[in-house]
Amino acid sequence: MSRLGVIGGTGALDLFEPVESGNSSTRWGAPSAEPVRVDLGAMEAWFLARHGRPHRIPPHRIDYRANIAALKALGVRHVIALNAVGAVSPDLPAGALVLPDQLIDYTWGRVHTFSDDAEAPLEHIEFADPFAGPTRRGLLAAAAAADIELVDGGCYGATQGPRLETAAEVARLAADGCTLVGMTAMPEAALAREAGLDYASLCVVANPGAGLQADPISIDEIHRVLQRAMERVAAVLRRFSPGLLA
Ligand code: HPA
Repeated sequence: MSRLGVIGGTGALDLFEPVESGNSSTRWGAPSAEPVRVDLGAMEAWFLARHGRPHRIPPHRIDYRANIAALKALGVRHVIALNAVGAVSPDLPAGALVLPDQLIDYTWGRVHTFSDDAEAPLEHIEFADPFAGPTRRGLLAAAAAADIELVDGGCYGATQGPRLETAAEVARLAADGCTLVGMTAMPEAALAREAGLDYASLCVVANPGAGLQADPISIDEIHRVLQRAMERVAAVLRRFSPGLLA
């Protein structure tokens, strides 16, 4: 049976009731939090809190390798990553759900590959389409079945954080072709590809990017927007089923 991994980001800590806890340590260390099995109806799903439980690990300190390895060790083959993002495109309102199809990596200094020592042979993964697999297509079908709007396509600019961007940085992201900005899809997406896992990012727009609104970005407002959006995220995930992974 296909097992699904759900990596929950900011605002997604308690999306589903845990029914079983995993017990994982990996050769790269412990994951951010113990993965927990959650009841998603049609699929066996394991949920991993990316920033730890409670939410405490900043994006640049997350052990992305341990997280991906822990899910893989549980038999997960498909990963849905939930990512809170700012909108770079003015067409994306706060609360929008977006499935990016591209990314640009602006992060630095993060451990970003399994190909790092003698035990992990050098591999140059193909990564032209970072989110191109059946999980992404399945999310589109699940959202349609749940009658929930999901924007199909976008370019995720992965920034280092944990600070938000300057207005000029967001203008540069737009000039580069990014429509979203977030801090966590990389190196996670590339590590998933290296591990042979099919990975899709489901982004929740929390705010207009820096400089795109008159007022400064409010962190409290980000949390309010994310909390409201999680009901729709959960509804999409509940419709996800192995049959959609064709
Ligand atoms: N920038 C980067 N990451 C984010 C943002 C943002 O504006 N909002 C939520 N995550």
